[in-house]
Amino acid sequence: MLERFPIDPKAFTGPVLVTGAGGCIGSWAVALLARVGVRVAAFDLSDDKRRTRLLMSDAELASVRWLTGDISDAAAVRATLEAVKPVAVIHLAALQVPFCKADPVLGAKVNVVGTVNVFEGARQLGIRRLAYASSIAAHGAMEEGEDVMSTLYGAYKYCNEQTAKVYAQDWGVASVGIRPGVVYGVGRDQGLTSKTTFAILAAAAGKPYDVPFRGGVSWLHAGEVASAFIKSVEQERSGAPVFDMNGAYVTVEDGLAIVKTVAPAAALTCSGAPLAFPMDLPDTALRDYLGDYGEVALADGIRETHAAFRTLLDRGLVSAASLP
Ligand SMILES: NC(=O)c1ccc[n+]([C@@H]2O[C@H](COP(=O)([O-])OP(=O)(O)OC[C@H]3O[C@@H](n4cnc5c(N)ncnc54)[C@H](O)[C@@H]3O)[C@@H](O)[C@H]2O)c1
Repeated sequence: MLERFPIDPKAFTGPVLVTGAGGCIGSWAVALLARVGVRVAAFDLSDDKRRTRLLMSDAELASVRWLTGDISDAAAVRATLEAVKPVAVIHLAALQVPFCKADPVLGAKVNVVGTVNVFEGARQLGIRRLAYASSIAAHGAMEEGEDVMSTLYGAYKYCNEQTAKVYAQDWGVASVGIRPGVVYGVGRDQGLTSKTTFAILAAAAGKPYDVPFRGGVSWLHAGEVASAFIKSVEQERSGAPVFDMNGAYVTVEDGLAIVKTVAPAAALTCSGAPLAFPMDLPDTALRDYLGDYGEVALADGIRETHAAFRTLLDRGLVSAASLP
């Protein structure tokens, strides 16, 4: 699937630092960059490469410089930037909705202080290409209404957007913020909205699965969002623009029907209330700003993800033993 996304290696004359590289989107970003020969430095809390290994061979992974550290530790972030001297930074390290709810102080340290550390490091070292992950959940901090859920995670993400704005205004540290919707695909295995991916994995494993929400959701392919982050740092930008990114807006019910076209015996259902995030948002502004970063039609994405899970299950690299 990696070949679907147009990455220009000539745009990168030095290494790209990816924070949260061991996560779902991070693994795709690392794999996409490494595939075309861009030097990559990965930064994560641990050297757990199990998601990256779903997309890259050990030989390919050997070309990636993997650094461990805590994004909330300003000295560690600064030391990493000094050691790597990146031409660009893609900042993805974060704790997702349930983890922020379970430990709000830790959530703020990782998601808010961690992001300030990245911007501060970029300011001090003069790094001119920076992209970071906000979230669709930021709308919960910006808007009121029954269909807009407020979460600490969303509050932290919105705070980061404001941080980005001030770093651009006061110190000329430009950035691009992307608010992904519901990311699905290989490597998506945690967080509130990971359940659509679990349905595809369950189908590949021949297990029943109930997605605990229904109705319209965003289906955003993990490779597509990783590619957009890379495109964001292909050149220097100005200001601190932030964009929604939702992929396809399709109901859970219709998405599961697509899964059943490739796995007709799959026992997939959905239940509960719709997710209260605005997800019928166009990607037009992001596409106009970035240009072509690739696009995965939902039917193709589901079919290829299902096929990849079949292979990964056979190789013992993923398990459907304890689907949440
Ligand atoms: N997956 C989605 O649907 C989605 C939607 C909207 C926004 N986002 C955002 O995109 C980014 C990447 O999401 P993902 O799905 O890849 O998340 P993920 O949970 O799969 O990965 C996050 C990574 O951050 C790392 N991390 C956590 N705490 C850290 C710390 N203190 N120091 C260093 N690394 C740390 C984790 O080890 C993990 O590898 C996050 O900022 C997330 O909030 C994701």
